[in-house]
Amino acid sequence: MPNDNIPPPPRRAAAYPRDTAETVSTPRSRARRQFLKGIVGAAVAGAAVVYGWTAYLFPTRRGPAHALGPVAGFAPHAPPTLLPDADNAVYSVQNRGGGEFLVLSALCTHQGCNVGWDGAKDQFLCPCHEGRFDLSGKVVNGPPGRPLPALAHHVAGATLFVDG
Ligand code: FES
Repeated sequence: MPNDNIPPPPRRAAAYPRDTAETVSTPRSRARRQFLKGIVGAAVAGAAVVYGWTAYLFPTRRGPAHALGPVAGFAPHAPPTLLPDADNAVYSVQNRGGGEFLVLSALCTHQGCNVGWDGAKDQFLCPCHEGRFDLSGKVVNGPPGRPLPALAHHVAGATLFVDG
């Protein structure tokens, strides 16, 4: 026999939210969420690609200055000297006379191959796609869109350094 003196349990309205536009998941709202997740994912992936290409196309060398060699080892007005270093960077060093040096990155600005020196034409030649640069690093021919970057350098004592 039920006891009429016991009150009914309280309603727990908060535990059972009413169906509203925010709580009802329809195929359309699920599709919208999927679309927004796709947009956010594409934006993040796009930002990563842009950052990677920027770092690749505009490399910045950071670190201590790197000794290229004794100044006396670079004869004035001689063809450029190509010097690899331990970081796979390659430098072109020209002694332009009067204590003036031109230090270029010898990595092709098209896709990063090491350029060589073509003494017959007095040009840098990239073996990958036949890009050519003049003595100052300016593009003469081929696919590279930018000149060989000139690098900051200094002489300390009797040694030429490329700056970090
Ligand atoms: S990498 Fe040098 S021309 Fe393509």
